Amino acid sequence: MLTAMQIKPDVYWVGGLDWNARSFHGYTTEDGITYNAYLIMDEKVTLIDTTKATFADELIGRISSIIDPAEIDVIIANHIEMDHSGSIPAILELAPHAEVYASAPAGVKELAAHFGIAGERVHGVKTGDTLSIGRRTLSFVQTAMVHWPDNMVTYSAYDKILFSNDAFGQHFASGARFEDENDLHEIMLQACKYYANIVQPYGKQADAALAAVKGLGIENIEVIAPSHGVCWRSHVADIISAYDGFASGAVKEKAIVVYDSMWHSTEKIALALVDGFLASGVPVKLFDLKANHNSDIMTEFLDTKYVCVGSPTLNSQMLPTVAGFLTYMRGLSPRNEKRIGVAFGSYGWAPLGPKNVGAVLEECGFQMPEKPLAYNWIPGEEPLEEIKAKVAAFVG
Ligand code: FEO
Repeated sequence: MLTAMQIKPDVYWVGGLDWNARSFHGYTTEDGITYNAYLIMDEKVTLIDTTKATFADELIGRISSIIDPAEIDVIIANHIEMDHSGSIPAILELAPHAEVYASAPAGVKELAAHFGIAGERVHGVKTGDTLSIGRRTLSFVQTAMVHWPDNMVTYSAYDKILFSNDAFGQHFASGARFEDENDLHEIMLQACKYYANIVQPYGKQADAALAAVKGLGIENIEVIAPSHGVCWRSHVADIISAYDGFASGAVKEKAIVVYDSMWHSTEKIALALVDGFLASGVPVKLFDLKANHNSDIMTEFLDTKYVCVGSPTLNSQMLPTVAGFLTYMRGLSPRNEKRIGVAFGSYGWAPLGPKNVGAVLEECGFQMPEKPLAYNWIPGEEPLEEIKAKVAAFVG
């Protein structure tokens, strides 16, 4: 029998620990993943979310350490993405009387589409709806498109717990369930990485969801219990404030230089850009795409003002590694008029690599103060000094 961990009196974490997962949809998860589910022992035994299907046995084992799963009356499905809903069919099989609550209409439709779960056992709920489970009354707030149409959060005023599903989560596997029992710097970094790679395209919706959460009154939230990673209890205001910053689209006076190179010419330009930012007093980080993962670069990108991307020209195109990064970045909808883009690269007979990079940065909606910085064959000392002067000019 596996262990359930108490979050508050009669509220238990019963999720799954995916210690060795190193990728979530291609985003690197160096600290593993958790699929959090929470069991509330009240007159109606209530399960908030489940786990990925492959962790059903772990979920059931932890629930069984508290109660026979057949006693579950209510399943709240805050989100139907399968890392949280995948074990609903297994629980429904064990709990013949359980009824499922999901957001209406999207969550209800998705339950039917994913698992064929429909009919009288399924109830749609909307913002403002409540459900009495005994001493507790749960209330629901829909947070559509953070990051699927069906997302919602569930609040227990009795416990002052916000079950926030993906929001405020982190990909982080740990035996300790609260942020203050773990390395806070690492937890904040993973929360930032999660936002940058999952939630970023939906900044406006995240802002609206934050407003709804704040409507509960931050003083009324003692614990945020997300569906990934650890719970927040000592830094609730800090993580909400961090999300405020992420969702605002605010950028800092800092730079990233992202590139790949064949024979080090584009790398020389990249290093000249780095030196230019350093000379101008702007913090900068260099990312060679051969050595860095897109998801880590996007974490740094989140609040960065100057985004420089470089490629040499290969067969009239940019390098595939650079194209892959730009596709990933563009998918995260980074449009932000405060951001400045710089394309650069080398070429032999046609400057198409840097030109194509520039076209993508423009499509992303960045300000482009310079034409692509394209240099023929191997840039010498003079062009490299010119690059530094250009940086000084647009940094101002
Ligand atoms: Fe963690 Fe959108 O699922």
